[in-house]
Amino acid sequence: MFVSKYLVLITIAVSHFCCNGQQFLQRTRFRRLNKPSGFKLKQRLQEKLNQYKQRTMQTICYDIVGCFELPHKRSPLQKVPENPDVLGTKFYLFKRSTNLSHPEILNYDDEGKSLANSSFNYTLPMKMIIHGYMGKWNDIGNLIGANTYLKIYDCNVILMDWSLGARGPQYAMAAANTEVVGRQLGILLLKMIENGLKPENIHLLGFSLGAHVAGSSSEVLKKKGHLIERITGLDAASPLFRTNHLKEKHKKLDREDARLVDVIHTDASPTVTDGFGLWEPIGHVDFFPNGGQEQPGCTDTKQSVVVTHFDKTLSREVACSHIRAWRLFQETLLNKAAGGQNRCDFTAFSCPGGLKSFERGFCFPDLPKPNTSLALDSSYRNDIGRFGEDVKGEGVMFFATRATPPYCGTQIQASIHISPKTGVIKGIILLNLQYPHHSVSFHINCDADDLILTGTVMSGLAVSDYGTLNDNVKNITATLNFVDLDLEEENNNTYIPTIYIDKVVIRDMYGNRWQFCQKDTVLKDTTGLNHNFSITLTKNGCL
Ligand SMILES: *[C@@H]1O[C@H](CO)[C@@H](O)[C@H](O)[C@H]1NC(C)=O
Ligand SMILES: *[C@@H]1O[C@H](CO)[C@@H](O)[C@H](O)[C@H]1NC(C)=O
Ligand SMILES: *[C@@H]1O[C@H](CO)[C@@H](O)[C@H](O)[C@H]1NC(C)=O
Ligand SMILES: *[C@@H]1O[C@H](CO)[C@@H](O)[C@H](O)[C@H]1NC(C)=O
Ligand SMILES: *[C@@H]1O[C@H](CO)[C@@H](O)[C@H](O)[C@H]1NC(C)=O
Ligand SMILES: *[C@@H]1O[C@H](CO)[C@@H](O)[C@H](O)[C@H]1NC(C)=O
Repeated sequence: MFVSKYLVLITIAVSHFCCNGQQFLQRTRFRRLNKPSGFKLKQRLQEKLNQYKQRTMQTICYDIVGCFELPHKRSPLQKVPENPDVLGTKFYLFKRSTNLSHPEILNYDDEGKSLANSSFNYTLPMKMIIHGYMGKWNDIGNLIGANTYLKIYDCNVILMDWSLGARGPQYAMAAANTEVVGRQLGILLLKMIENGLKPENIHLLGFSLGAHVAGSSSEVLKKKGHLIERITGLDAASPLFRTNHLKEKHKKLDREDARLVDVIHTDASPTVTDGFGLWEPIGHVDFFPNGGQEQPGCTDTKQSVVVTHFDKTLSREVACSHIRAWRLFQETLLNKAAGGQNRCDFTAFSCPGGLKSFERGFCFPDLPKPNTSLALDSSYRNDIGRFGEDVKGEGVMFFATRATPPYCGTQIQASIHISPKTGVIKGIILLNLQYPHHSVSFHINCDADDLILTGTVMSGLAVSDYGTLNDNVKNITATLNFVDLDLEEENNNTYIPTIYIDKVVIRDMYGNRWQFCQKDTVLKDTTGLNHNFSITLTKNGCL
């Protein structure tokens, strides 16, 4: 107990020296493993504590919002939060009765006057959308969100505007401002609660840096004993929140900030430098669509993302995967507003084997056939969840999406049974399915050394247009291409790698399957041969 307290303190102190998360983790681990002598540890700890205290003495204080710890080192990455007078944070209230071009403006710093003068209804739920870096309250996506929410619920919708704090061009400045802005939001929320709004009726949605604004706001409320019902983190920003001085819990979104913290990761990266989004799960449920690192249809080059983090602009092209988080959520709102029983849901599933297992289709579920897509409500399983406004699930969950809107579709799995006759080969199988008026492609990867193509089942996931691959589809035509990855390196033209397949199975989550069975079907490498091998899969074939 005693020692573990020390370790926590050392962690804080050491983190001020390292700007590299890896290095910091290694050091902490080193200490745990080697158990340094009590005396040395104490001495070193005392030094660190003194240094740490000196640094934490430095704060900057503003009216109303209070004091903020200063970063010990003013580096380009460690900024002092700006003066609230400069930030001009405002809140735009929309009700069903509001003319969308004339929202009411609420201030956090007028002792509740603007709130009292507004048509905010304390008995109705509140949805608040918080923009991210270089965003503003009236970005088209936010207006669509507000409008759609009002179609679904009679509620208060607020679009928060901290555009000056988030303006850039320095990302680090915007990141440092999230704590100030979060407190401003917290002060307004507190006023609303004092006026009768139930914390159970509060749902904050924060995109990118906005997720941390939401997280910071909850600190103000927790001090008064209130916990917000729900915070949705849409690709919560990663740069500077993973390491550096913003990594502390109270400065970012974490699962203690609301009764339900649901998070979606669309541009996450396990390394510090590429990707805007956090890789680590931080909520009660964390969704990783398409694995969470890169989204289909996006051509973001990770390198350019690194450059744009800290200076220059955030362009739509560069941030395509990042922005996808909000697009996916919006789609669930639009679907809900459109009503209807049989709507597409982002059904998510857990995968104990992690990302690789998900990508290989190992965790693809086999569920009882629902009579509507809303059947999840009646047959809840904790390994099956749903992303979006009607969220369900817990822990880390995955799902696959289409590359273009509508992103939601029917998730399907392809399994290719490789005959034992096949030698040791690695490569990629490209499988394209065609059925009336639709087609869908799989890239079934066998990139690493850990999978040998002999007597195994290779599988992968794809998403077909929603509802099209249904009971009425009896036959599917499929073309198969095999690309041997070693062959290109060896440049050996006389040898054509060949695999033998016994069976191909396509299935959806609800028991529909289409199969092709023919033992030792020959599939040759098609590099340069431009040759598609065609087969037919039949509904429930070769049982
Ligand atoms: C909303 O405001 C706009 C601009 O002032 C106006 O042109 C429009 O008629 C208003 N709509 C309604 C339904 O009142
Ligand atoms: C109260 O609201 C009305 C319109 O909703 C506005 O015209 C007026 O200026 C507001 N008064 C104050 C004191 O904010
Ligand atoms: C607030 O909303 C409730 C529920 O729709 C409604 O009954 C009530 O009249 C509203 N209050 C005001 C002041 O509009
Ligand atoms: C769907 O199934 C549930 C439970 O099995 C049943 O109660 C419900 O009536 C069914 N709905 C439709 C539209 O068939
Ligand atoms: C489906 O494929 C089977 C076997 O290849 C064939 O006999 C049948 O006629 C096909 N059915 C349709 C509707 O194309
Ligand atoms: C090409 O590669 C195959 C398998 O690695 C080998 O058996 C064959 O001898 C090679 N041919 C030439 C010309 O190098």
